[in-house]
Amino acid sequence: MKIVHTIEALRDTLKPFNAPTLVPTMGNLHDGHLDLVRAAKPLGDVTIASIFVNRLQFAPHEDFDTYPRTLQADCDQLAAAGCDVVFAPSEKELYPEPQGFKVQPPGELADILEGHFRPGFFTGVCTVVMKLFQCVLTEAKGPRHAVFGQKDYQQQMVIRRMVQQFALPIGIVSVPTQRAADGLALSSRNSYLSDTERAEAVQLSLALRALGRDALAAADGLTRHLPALEDRAMKALSARGWQPDYLTVRRRTDLQTPQAGDPLVVLGAARLGKTRLIDNFEI
Ligand code: PAF
Repeated sequence: MKIVHTIEALRDTLKPFNAPTLVPTMGNLHDGHLDLVRAAKPLGDVTIASIFVNRLQFAPHEDFDTYPRTLQADCDQLAAAGCDVVFAPSEKELYPEPQGFKVQPPGELADILEGHFRPGFFTGVCTVVMKLFQCVLTEAKGPRHAVFGQKDYQQQMVIRRMVQQFALPIGIVSVPTQRAADGLALSSRNSYLSDTERAEAVQLSLALRALGRDALAAADGLTRHLPALEDRAMKALSARGWQPDYLTVRRRTDLQTPQAGDPLVVLGAARLGKTRLIDNFEI
């Protein structure tokens, strides 16, 4: 596996290949990320993982400075998973000057849910992903893919929309969320949890499953009953010491409030101590 830190070295390395597949990450990898690499392998002739903690998608009060940087351990895991190239640029390399041009996703998709509680988050994500696509994928001649995890449900939807609206010749592949034995969604931020918090953390996914069951049971009365069901789910989690941002049932296609008969997804974000966790299930 080759590790490169500059755009020039990356493009040189990729010259002999036709069909690159990119797995964008911020490092501090877990088995969920390695699943993305495993899904990437058959899609093309070279698999590239990028590792870059993207300042643009963190608000000033968030964990940019403390986000774990674990390059050596990440590279060891990526090599074992069959990754071919790691692109780990410095901030100076990816943003040699302040990134004045930004990709602004549409508000109806990007200012709700995660975007409501993390203003500017999806602008930061789209901007870095567009830039990583330029670095990794634009010079290829054959099919190009990028792989994202379904745990970040709204993120992969925003990126799909970006690719579609900019007519980028890139196939976006999403991979199901990997879970620990108790059902907790794997996340780099799980490493922030204390032992007691770790034991409690699965309650977010249990609360979402319960909300999903209630929503399905409401069937035709879904639109009428949904606010009360969501409120009850939020209060139940708060009573256990969480600070929920949202627990909600949305239409899968655009994450808007569903009507009866729509395919549904239940999504949630909540803080446990200092750690903010997200999860979702299609129901
Ligand atoms: O999901 C992530 O880890 C990040 O948002 C991404 C896609 C690597 C962009 O920084």
